[in-house]
Amino acid sequence: MMKIIIIISVLLLNSCLAFAQNIAITLDGKDLAKVPLDEIKKMKPVNLEYFNKTTQRSELYVGVSTLSFIEKYYPEIQKLHEIEFLTDNNINPLISLSRFQQTDSILAYDRADGDKFVRFSKKEKILVPLSPLYLVWNLKGASKEVRLSNRSLYQIRTINLISKKIDLGIHQDAVEASVFLGYETYKRYCLSCHAIGKVGGSNSFDLIKHQTLQNKGAEYVKKYIFDPNLINPKTKMLPFPKIKDSQKLIEGIVDFLKFMENPEEYFQKNKSAKRETSYKALQEIIKEMN
Ligand code: HEC
Repeated sequence: MMKIIIIISVLLLNSCLAFAQNIAITLDGKDLAKVPLDEIKKMKPVNLEYFNKTTQRSELYVGVSTLSFIEKYYPEIQKLHEIEFLTDNNINPLISLSRFQQTDSILAYDRADGDKFVRFSKKEKILVPLSPLYLVWNLKGASKEVRLSNRSLYQIRTINLISKKIDLGIHQDAVEASVFLGYETYKRYCLSCHAIGKVGGSNSFDLIKHQTLQNKGAEYVKKYIFDPNLINPKTKMLPFPKIKDSQKLIEGIVDFLKFMENPEEYFQKNKSAKRETSYKALQEIIKEMN
């Protein structure tokens, strides 16, 4: 009896999954289209070879070009600033449009070499299914740095196109390079879970509102970012990717948090910072937070 129930539930689960093969496209969080996977498969397929560092083997994927796919549903693609992928594994990065323009990528829905559409998850130490869509970068001939910083994602459910530049009042020419680097890094790796005011995801709390840096200290925060497991074995957060400049990027995040927690002090200490270009938008955000 038990067996039958299990089989039936597996069957049900499978058919539910089959029905759920829609990819939502939103623009600034508002619905733009819901695209069934079958429709994506009717578009011009592109094959892309990817060298898998874990298995040391080449893999051939088939999918649609990321940019042409987005352009089909949002022809004014040039107006976009960032693209946010909402995935089943809760890694929801914001990736700038320019990155897609610099490096080819596809949204893969299958393997073209007959292998299963799965990948090995280092974290769970198991094979995980990739469907419905998996972002694969074309890294042939790319420098090591580019290779390491282009993350592939699996189980993309929603593609959120962002037309409004996320403006936290941090402009490249107004703050120290490290603060700006930290801001860019934060947007890419943290904002999807740790929102700032009303911007970003809500998988965790607002680090700035909680004054995490001031309360816990820079060493704690750096260690947590580097590998949260070292501090909290039950963490839901992933370690920072092991890329060439990770230490510099983590330092940048800390400088950025320091700036955000107390911009007044920052501008007092850094006379060269142009507060008129950066301060107004920031004040607005801080007002919203309180
Ligand atoms: C997938 C979601 C997710 C991402 C992405 C993420 N975090 Fe977290 N973070 C959490 C959660 C959830 C917690 C709460 C405790 C835990 O599970 O580790 C947390 C806790 C923290 C803490 C500890 C706060 C405290 O008071 O102890 C710090 C610091 C932190 N995150 C910084 C960051 C930074 C910086 C980034 C970007 C590099 C980042 N997190 C990316 C989910 C995330």
